[in-house]
Amino acid sequence: MLGMKRGKYLLLMLILLLHSLAVQCQGKPVVQRAVDIVLPCEYVLMKEGGRGSLGGLTFSRERVTLVLRNISVTGEGEELDPITEYEAPKDKENTTYQATVRVGPLPFAERLLHAECEGEEVGCEISPIYGEFYVAHVYLPELSVSMMCQAEVSMEEQDVLKEQGEKTVTPMTVDYIVSSSPPSHHSHISGDVSLNCEVWGDLDRMEVEWYFQSEGRGRRVFPSEEPRVSVGQEGQKSKGDVSLVLRGVLVSDEGTYICTVSAEQHKIQQILKLGIREPPRVSISQRGGRETRLTCRTDRYYPLDVEFDWLLNGSPVPDPDIETSSHRKNSDGTYNLSSTLTVPLPAAGSDPHTYTCSVSHVSLAEPILAHVSIALPDAESYTPSGYRLIVSSTIISAIIFIVALAKSIWAKQKQGAEKKKE
Ligand SMILES: *[C@@H]1O[C@H](CO)[C@@H](O)[C@H](O)[C@H]1NC(C)=O
Ligand SMILES: *[C@@H]1O[C@H](CO)[C@@H](O)[C@H](O)[C@H]1NC(C)=O
Ligand SMILES: *[C@@H]1O[C@H](CO)[C@@H](O)[C@H](O)[C@H]1NC(C)=O
Repeated sequence: MLGMKRGKYLLLMLILLLHSLAVQCQGKPVVQRAVDIVLPCEYVLMKEGGRGSLGGLTFSRERVTLVLRNISVTGEGEELDPITEYEAPKDKENTTYQATVRVGPLPFAERLLHAECEGEEVGCEISPIYGEFYVAHVYLPELSVSMMCQAEVSMEEQDVLKEQGEKTVTPMTVDYIVSSSPPSHHSHISGDVSLNCEVWGDLDRMEVEWYFQSEGRGRRVFPSEEPRVSVGQEGQKSKGDVSLVLRGVLVSDEGTYICTVSAEQHKIQQILKLGIREPPRVSISQRGGRETRLTCRTDRYYPLDVEFDWLLNGSPVPDPDIETSSHRKNSDGTYNLSSTLTVPLPAAGSDPHTYTCSVSHVSLAEPILAHVSIALPDAESYTPSGYRLIVSSTIISAIIFIVALAKSIWAKQKQGAEKKKE
């Protein structure tokens, strides 16, 4: 017994040894290091009043450069290019904001770093809030990042320099970051969805609140009071996942969700969209006599718009005679709609006609197809309605079944009676 155990132990050791050798052999050293990311950006200033203003506000935009410093990225030692420290250009074509990032590592840093090579355009905006505080917003498809920045000089001091026509370099620090990836989601009804929101910074000094807006109305979301909702709390001291999880999604959950992080009187936020997409259940039925009515039903789908196309043997029906029902709304917010096509029976002796109802909806990558085949019944057994033909054959088979059943019962009873006699 003991010998066998030891044998197993040795085998395990050997496997572990081989495994670690394999890992070492693969190993170019994985290194983590800080880089600078230079982004063309827009300085967006919101002013009150002014001509052509929107709700009393005007925006001015100016091209600037945002440099994110001390962004840590991981990579295999050989693959990384040698680092060159960013130096502000001497001719200072544009105003530059040099933001040293104090938090991290940031998992999306690599995407920002390689965006240009991948042909992706990084969106970037920086806006002053007050005093020496700014918010920078950097975005890519499926990724949105907001940063709270603190400059060394106040905005007023900067404006003085600007008026003198100087292109300045403003050093700043980034102490808080809120990101969302992706900022927009789609869910089926009754599915679960996680609305991603992650924060970096001093978590002890931050407060996270979620808000929900739909059809012009807003409210705060209280995860502790709503059974279908929870907020992720997983995190270390300087990084937290505060994603909002919704279980058993309803049509009424569709709308905008705002992940708001407050730290020392400032707020930064991520705006996320949740759309409900429920595919239709498609069925086709047939009814009628010399003229057949084909009804294509789409049930329990969301959102509202659904499109029907009718095909005859694979091509659009020429001159179709179509009636569309009105939308019927179900109590769960989904819709039912049907389209009815009236068609003639095929001429005597011709092949059956195959009709197809093709249903397109935003929830579907490809249309759903439902087929029905219509043939002229045999001349002898011809009845005005194909439908009645099915019904009557069902009735006939039911009668045959009942007769057979009665016969067998009768036979059994007879057998029983004979046994008694014996
Ligand atoms: C500086 O601003 C000008 C327009 O004002 C723009 O054409 C140019 O690309 C900007 N340069 C950088 C490095 O962002
Ligand atoms: C650079 O970032 C790291 C976190 O990735 C942080 O600990 C460090 O303080 C930062 N350095 C500076 C100079 O801010
Ligand atoms: C929609 O269709 C379903 C069948 O799929 C049915 O149960 C439901 O009652 C219909 N709703 C309305 C409002 O007609």
